[in-house]
Amino acid sequence: MVPRVLEVMHGHLASWEKDGKVPMFRAARLMGVDLGMDVIMQVQLPEDVDRQWAKSQVEVFLDGLYALPVSLPGTALRKAIAARDRLVRIFEPGVQQRHAEFQKQWASVGGSIQAYADMVLEQPSRQATTRPSSDGAAAAPPAAPGPKPSIMAAQLMGRAAIDQCVLKDAAMSVCHMLVAAADTTRFALFNTWSLLAMSPRVQDRLYEEQQKVIAQYGPELSYQATCHMPYMDATLKECMRLLPASAGGIRKLTRDLRVGQYVIPKGEHVWFHAGLLHCTDPALWDGRTDYQHGLPPHMDWRHNFDDAFRPERWLGGEEGRPRYHFTFGTGAHLCIGMNLVYLEIKLLLAMVLRKYRIRLECPDMLARCGRLFPFLVPEKGTDNVLLEAREGLAA
Ligand code: HEM
Repeated sequence: MVPRVLEVMHGHLASWEKDGKVPMFRAARLMGVDLGMDVIMQVQLPEDVDRQWAKSQVEVFLDGLYALPVSLPGTALRKAIAARDRLVRIFEPGVQQRHAEFQKQWASVGGSIQAYADMVLEQPSRQATTRPSSDGAAAAPPAAPGPKPSIMAAQLMGRAAIDQCVLKDAAMSVCHMLVAAADTTRFALFNTWSLLAMSPRVQDRLYEEQQKVIAQYGPELSYQATCHMPYMDATLKECMRLLPASAGGIRKLTRDLRVGQYVIPKGEHVWFHAGLLHCTDPALWDGRTDYQHGLPPHMDWRHNFDDAFRPERWLGGEEGRPRYHFTFGTGAHLCIGMNLVYLEIKLLLAMVLRKYRIRLECPDMLARCGRLFPFLVPEKGTDNVLLEAREGLAA
């Protein structure tokens, strides 16, 4: 995916460079939608449908997600439902074609999930559905007809092929995957950029790391290069710990859960809130609840920024190293997009920080955010990030 991700990002960066600044909240939304539609989902549209218009409908749909649940004419929810219905209609033909291709591939592996997975990974199948060759070794899976199989096709089409499903449901799945991919990426980008723009120290360390990466892998950004950026990895984890781009997830209890003096019975649904879990991380929290500003130092970016935002805490060598953050969930349902999102943000940050220092035009933009739940939303006009060319580099 790297070349496609880079292509989208270069296009956005070029327009930011013209202005010397990025209206970050809006820019992150547009990039999230472009990556979701063009790279992750590779949505196919009928020829007579304008792609930009379709993306504008995706935005209207996404705007309904966090709206009041009131479906009166003119409300964000009503507009979102109408946009979703339009999207389902224009997605249906592309989904139908993709579904037909998927079914051929699915039939070619005898409807075996393992064999399909092997085909995606281009590894010889060890599955019984493939006949052993004469020397007893498992034969490679048959070449699949149609385009290359992919995890995304399986994710989207698998249920449709295995269970009964109407076309509309499959088209709706595309909308759901855009929800999973587009605005989450937007908030991940926005939160990360905000924290970095407030920390020249961390930017400088990232810049130094990039110089080493360039010396070793050359100036082109590649997947291989992104695998050798330990400080960048630590920075992204720290951003997702301090300002999670999700509110966590839901679980059904499989046994009674004791929380202090309460017992939540088996069978209840509980919500694990990422930010709350990060607050009470046993590696970082001393158990006090009487902090002056309400939050322990490892979370209190408003009053204690330099102590709160410390990528180094993920690298070891410091006391209280967190083992985990919950922004992408946990366990069997861990987000399937996590590594992709990390890859995207790494590519963008590497691309920008190799050339620029970034700085908030309005230094207290984050603290002024009026809306905090489920995500930070900046006050209008406060979210510009300035791009300042590093010495010796032409802007
Ligand atoms: C910053 C971006 C993202 C965040 C913060 C995020 C967050 C999450 C969270 C919290 C969950 C629930 C995990 C759990 O219950 O343990 C989840 C699940 C999921 N995410 Fe993401 N996500 C992001 C991007 C993506 C992308 C880009 C995709 C698509 C490629 C995606 C697809 C999914 C899917 C399909 C699931 C359901 C997994 C399952 O239930 O097995 N997400 N995500």
